[in-house]
Amino acid sequence: MRDLTFGYPGSEEPVLHGVSLMFLPGQTSAIIGGTGSGKTTLLNLVPRFCDPTSGSVRVNGVDVRDQDLEQLWHEIGMVPQSAFLFSGTVASVPHWKCVSEVVRLTRGSVRRVWSR
Ligand SMILES: Nc1ncnc2c1ncn2[C@@H]1O[C@H](COP(=O)(O)OP(=O)(O)OP(=O)(O)O)[C@@H](O)[C@H]1O
Ligand SMILES: [Mg+2]
Repeated sequence: MRDLTFGYPGSEEPVLHGVSLMFLPGQTSAIIGGTGSGKTTLLNLVPRFCDPTSGSVRVNGVDVRDQDLEQLWHEIGMVPQSAFLFSGTVASVPHWKCVSEVVRLTRGSVRRVWSR
């Protein structure tokens, strides 16, 4: 991650300000911080649930925005910290703007990925 800044749409202040860090292959890393400090937000930028406001996220040296999304997701395993049940489709939940954008970008392939 290089000089990464991210703010949620409609929020006045960015959650992440100028974050630069590198995770090395074969190492286990932990991100530690207080509640609401941005840990989940930081990790959500890797599979492109959201894109940075400025700066970049790179996997194997390549900006995730320049990678094939489905190929990128093949390389990532995620376990969410809490289960969340909702009715309807992912795209129909209006406040999930970032996920809705992923659905738009992938034209529905998210359904295939999530059903595996
Ligand atoms: N979808 C969203 N829309 C707007 N603001 C959000 C959204 N998700 C998180 N935030 C805000 O962004 C900030 C960082 O939240 P985040 O969930 O990344 O923190 P966290 O470090 O993972 O917290 P926790 O330890 O509780 O898991 C918080 O102020 C939170 O209220
Ligand atoms: Mg969290």
